[in-house]
Amino acid sequence: MNFPFKIIAHSEEATKSIASRFSRVIKTGDVVALNGNLGSGKTFFVKSVCENYNITGVQSPTFAIVNEYSGDKKIYHFDFYRLKNTEELLDIGFEDYINDTETIIFIEWADKFNNVLPMDRYEINFNFVNERSREIEIKKLLSK
Ligand SMILES: Nc1ncnc2c1ncn2[C@@H]1O[C@H](COP(=O)(O)OP(=O)(O)O)[C@@H](O)[C@H]1O
Ligand SMILES: [Mg+2]
Repeated sequence: MNFPFKIIAHSEEATKSIASRFSRVIKTGDVVALNGNLGSGKTFFVKSVCENYNITGVQSPTFAIVNEYSGDKKIYHFDFYRLKNTEELLDIGFEDYINDTETIIFIEWADKFNNVLPMDRYEINFNFVNERSREIEIKKLLSK
């Protein structure tokens, strides 16, 4: 998989296949920002990546802001959707999460608070094409 990567996934299976390829590229310590409208497939993608690490039970963190999973890898799954300000992140110890080099971090709605994200990260943009198809674009951002 080379970056930038852009494709139209015409089915859920196609999205799962991209997630599977991506799961073999990312490493512990990586941060993955997922952006796109409600229903565009952010949670579906995280869930699909996690299946490749033998993790089940992935769902969007609603009240907790962050869910933790572990299987073959450790995962922190954030969702900034309901977040009002970055103070709430500091309250839950975001700094410790984001600096944990043993874990892969996914953040839905990350672009609400881009300023708390590390410069080095993957950015995935999801676009609703039709009921079954989603455009998926993955970029690798580097600080230098
Ligand atoms: N090609 C596709 N890729 C991803 N999800 C799809 C696709 N086609 C249909 N879907 C459906 O779209 C929905 C995406 O929902 P979700 O992942 O919760 O979105 P978000 O987290 O961005 O709000 C799921 O119900 C999923 O089954
Ligand atoms: Mg979601």
